[in-house]
Amino acid sequence: MPIAHRASILHFIADPDTVALDQAYEYYPDGIMVIDDGKIKSIGLAEDLLPSLGTDVDLTEHGNALIIPGFVDTHIHYPQTEVIAAYGEQLLEWLEKYTFPCEAKFHDEDYARDIAERFLDELLRAGTTTALVFGTVHKESVEAFFKACEKRNLRMVAGKVMMDRNAPDDLIDTAQSSYDDSKALIEKWHNRGRLRYAVTPRFSPTSTEQQLQKAGQLMQEYPGVYMHTHMSENVDEVKWVKELFPERANYLDTYDHAGLLGRRSVLAHCIHLTDEEWQRMEETQTGIAFCPTSNLFLGSGLFQLNRAVKHNLNVGMGTDVGGGSSFSILQTLNEAYKVLQLRGEQLSPFKGFYLATLGGAKTLDMSDVIGNFSVGKEADFLVLDKSCTPLMDFRMSKCTDLFEELFVFSMLGDDRAIKQTWSAGELVHQRD
Ligand code: GUN
Ligand code: ZN
Repeated sequence: MPIAHRASILHFIADPDTVALDQAYEYYPDGIMVIDDGKIKSIGLAEDLLPSLGTDVDLTEHGNALIIPGFVDTHIHYPQTEVIAAYGEQLLEWLEKYTFPCEAKFHDEDYARDIAERFLDELLRAGTTTALVFGTVHKESVEAFFKACEKRNLRMVAGKVMMDRNAPDDLIDTAQSSYDDSKALIEKWHNRGRLRYAVTPRFSPTSTEQQLQKAGQLMQEYPGVYMHTHMSENVDEVKWVKELFPERANYLDTYDHAGLLGRRSVLAHCIHLTDEEWQRMEETQTGIAFCPTSNLFLGSGLFQLNRAVKHNLNVGMGTDVGGGSSFSILQTLNEAYKVLQLRGEQLSPFKGFYLATLGGAKTLDMSDVIGNFSVGKEADFLVLDKSCTPLMDFRMSKCTDLFEELFVFSMLGDDRAIKQTWSAGELVHQRD
């Protein structure tokens, strides 16, 4: 039976940096969205749609709320849920001190299932309906994650970490075993329902050349799978890669040489790229996850969004939990704004909400199925509450247009602003 939702409705149809602003989004101040069989059936102004709405349609009125597409988180680690907010270190020490000990527990599928469920609760509470997700080196971690996602019918991408050096013994695989385990997971999970697989070498320092080649072999053998890794996040990391791969032209070349760049590859961070690397990112249409809370929390640096725009790169927002300090994409936009302020750049709320929805979907090469409310797409959406706190309510009452409202959502908003989260037309989170 069709269902319909009535509220203000906003979605993006193009990147505000590439078209005139009024061509970038559609906004229905009093809108209706009709959903049938989990997909968008129609969308428009209430006054236009109401007269023809069949009597069989179950209409929910959301009052003074804003409906937008579900957020897309283009880089996050589910096993690190328990080390979010771990004190005092930068990347390489943070990995040794907090991350690796935590990830060692995920050989146990029961433990992994428990964390996966908790993680998905947090994602949906934050309004994230699709994410590109790191598991751990253990195939059990990915089994547990995909099973939990399948149960909730979520659109997710994930993969087993490939890591055959420079990590504790209990977190190390081999080039061959990482290939075999990834292959088995791809065969079982890639394109099963709404799930997809990402070949996931952690980052060049923890893979031998042989392992990166094996990752490349998987990309060749399974066109359509994703590649997900870290890139040029921290100055010491970049220096280390130079020492470990003296024969490669630069950090990016360690992935390029193995055939790991392309339209379905997403590199998290990309803060300290050289001119040659930016150029090669463009040539290969490789996507970027912009992770401002993590980049500030780990003291990694300031991402150059204007450079990515100049090179026509697909960019999405990433929380990078547990290096990132919040599951909330609203809070991530808040920090993104400040990072760009420090760089003398501006992040308009239109661009921010684009990056968090359609931009993320494009980065994941999924804009044919999610990212906005085009007819036929999967109905993943959020009901945002403009009066979720006394301050939000008061500040919103002073807003005179959509631009201001979106900016206030991104500055003051967090999981409290997410009244409901819907996935494939089903309610998957209702704020208490
Ligand atoms: N680089 C390699 N591994 C990681 C990780 O787990 N988190 C972050 N932020 N960067 C990394
Ligand atoms: Zn990360």
